Amino acid sequence: MIKVKNDNIKSEKETIESSLAVYSEGESEEECNGYCEVKVEGLNFYYGAAQALFNVNIMVEEKGVAALIGPSGCGKSTFLRVLNRMNDLISGTRLEGKITVHGEDIYDPATDVVKLRKKVGMVFQQPNPFPKSIFDNVAYGPRIDGQKNKAVLGEIVEESLKGAALWDEVKDRLHEPALALSGGQQQRLCIARALAVQPRILLMDEPTSAIDPIATQKIEDLIRDLCTDYTIIIVTHNMQQAARISDHTGFFLQGKMVEWGKTSQLFTKPADQKTEDYITGRFG
Ligand SMILES: Nc1ncnc2c1ncn2[C@@H]1O[C@H](COP(=O)(O)OP(=O)(O)OP(=O)(O)O)[C@@H](O)[C@H]1O
Ligand SMILES: [Mg+2]
Repeated sequence: MIKVKNDNIKSEKETIESSLAVYSEGESEEECNGYCEVKVEGLNFYYGAAQALFNVNIMVEEKGVAALIGPSGCGKSTFLRVLNRMNDLISGTRLEGKITVHGEDIYDPATDVVKLRKKVGMVFQQPNPFPKSIFDNVAYGPRIDGQKNKAVLGEIVEESLKGAALWDEVKDRLHEPALALSGGQQQRLCIARALAVQPRILLMDEPTSAIDPIATQKIEDLIRDLCTDYTIIIVTHNMQQAARISDHTGFFLQGKMVEWGKTSQLFTKPADQKTEDYITGRFG
């Protein structure tokens, strides 16, 4: 691990602290106060013989934003993929433990994985619209679900694009290619596509790392709006972003969740020295 010391370290921590909206001292950092939407118990995950996650235990409350931070290779994306069984698509993987999403044990053999992935949508680092029109991108999921009624599809597309704060920018060109949109617009289109199948949870893996600061701001505002209706779990490399937009934060290090708690608490009074070292920029 490289140890870095410089004058920016303190100012970075101060910036994070000043961007924290609420800091309520002494609140519980372990328990779900509201309804527990995602519960992870004793999770171990392996790629072949290599273990990538070690005994992870967390409970994510319904609605709100949970951010996952930690250095490259610590297991953030692996953890996110486990939550909607995207890891099933990678051969040679193995999982131990129990994961409950909205009360359902998602690794139960009876689980319908297609339904699960509708309930738990995913937005990736690189916007990945299909090479189709804006309309057809958003209508894609509902059509696969069997929705053929044009008027209903039109409504779903409009509602989803409004939900993703993109409607006003594209309403007059719904039948133009999605790939003609800017990167930030494409990312919001991917969010609209995820919303169109009415998920409960949105997983986002570094959704703003490939777009410019203005588009990033729009996505951050959007995430805060969406979290009144959806549970959002976001991986970010940007600690200021985690501090700005999340209610809870988890810090991963070498496959272990070192600390999980209220964002306000984790960034100002971390319980673990390793968290303190990471958020003050001493490594990573
Ligand atoms: N498909 C895969 N096959 C084998 N090993 C993998 C695979 N994907 C990830 N890993 C390994 O699992 C560990 C965790 O990787 P993961 O991608 O989850 O990290 P991360 O925290 O998302 O990193 P980054 O911040 O760079 O995206 C790493 O050691 C990585 O090499
Ligand atoms: Mg990753």
